[in-house]
Amino acid sequence: EWTMQKFLEEAISQIRHTVGDKGQVLAAVSGGVDSTVAAKLMKEAIGDRFWAVLVNNGVMRLNECDQVKKDLSEALGINLTVVDASEQFLEGLKGVTDPEKKRKFIGGKFIDVFEEEALKIEKAAESDPAKAGKIEFFMQGTLYPDVIESLSFKGPSATIKTHHNVGGLPARMMNGQGLKLIEPLRSLYKDEVRELGRALGIREELVMRHPFPGPGIAVRILGEVTPERVEIARQADHIFISEIRKAGLYDQISQAYAAVDPSRAVGVMGDKRVYGYIIILRAVTTTDYMTAEAFNFPWDFLQRVMNRIVNEVHGVCRVVYDVTSKPPGTIELE
Ligand code: XMP
Repeated sequence: EWTMQKFLEEAISQIRHTVGDKGQVLAAVSGGVDSTVAAKLMKEAIGDRFWAVLVNNGVMRLNECDQVKKDLSEALGINLTVVDASEQFLEGLKGVTDPEKKRKFIGGKFIDVFEEEALKIEKAAESDPAKAGKIEFFMQGTLYPDVIESLSFKGPSATIKTHHNVGGLPARMMNGQGLKLIEPLRSLYKDEVRELGRALGIREELVMRHPFPGPGIAVRILGEVTPERVEIARQADHIFISEIRKAGLYDQISQAYAAVDPSRAVGVMGDKRVYGYIIILRAVTTTDYMTAEAFNFPWDFLQRVMNRIVNEVHGVCRVVYDVTSKPPGTIELE
């Protein structure tokens, strides 16, 4: 009989067998379900010989970088290095309006920043007498559906957009740095990864987190990404998600976010005519992310969120809810 506890024990012994007594493993983590569960599994198997790197790309959500640091490093005890490259990213995004160019820039920059950090970690790993081994492996939280997708037909969104911002990273780590790939979740489906996360003692809120795109808020700001727009997107998104949680709807929704449309809409505030950004709320339900339906919120919920956003987020005077299904609308706006 297959149980999660058995899977966990076998996965740990397999990792130990593959990596050996001295081998060390490097990975990029995001705070998402897959990389967090995979990282905690590595930590259980080989302790601090597993090195996780979190790159702050300047387009994470409100307080997200600090929260991920707390969860992974403090709560789960993972050997984590945080690289704050937010200024480099925001600088490079100046003037970029094309969605594909945003994705390519963020993906490419991510690899550069990660590789630079990897070289530092390799030196540190080799010179640490307690560990005294080389970094030989690069770990990725690839799931079974990702394996299938890469072997066969690429889904419609995969061909329309450049997905998975870190797609080029394993190749770079394997070819450039000569590391071997290790993928401890490659036989699991998403719900099994969540189950494994629970068995590893990861808190429920983290285990149930919605997916978040690698290019982050950058693909949730139509057009140019500016620090002001990132701030507005963060505030509005935070209000939306907090209200979703308060209403007990989070686990019924597959993915939700607030985006910024920087075209200015007219509004009245007090007795003045104002121009403000438009906030687009999106929430969908889906099982495979290839097709999706807009979530059917109660009307008073949407009004509550609208009221909070226009009152609390400076520079916004209009809120709309996107009711488009996928297809034709993708889940992200860009
Ligand atoms: P779309 O927008 O194509 O998204 O319906 C389907 C799923 O993929 C996520 N997504 C991305 N994830 N890098 C990522 O890592 C990307 O560039 C990217 N674009 C979309 C999206 O959030 C949804 O879960």
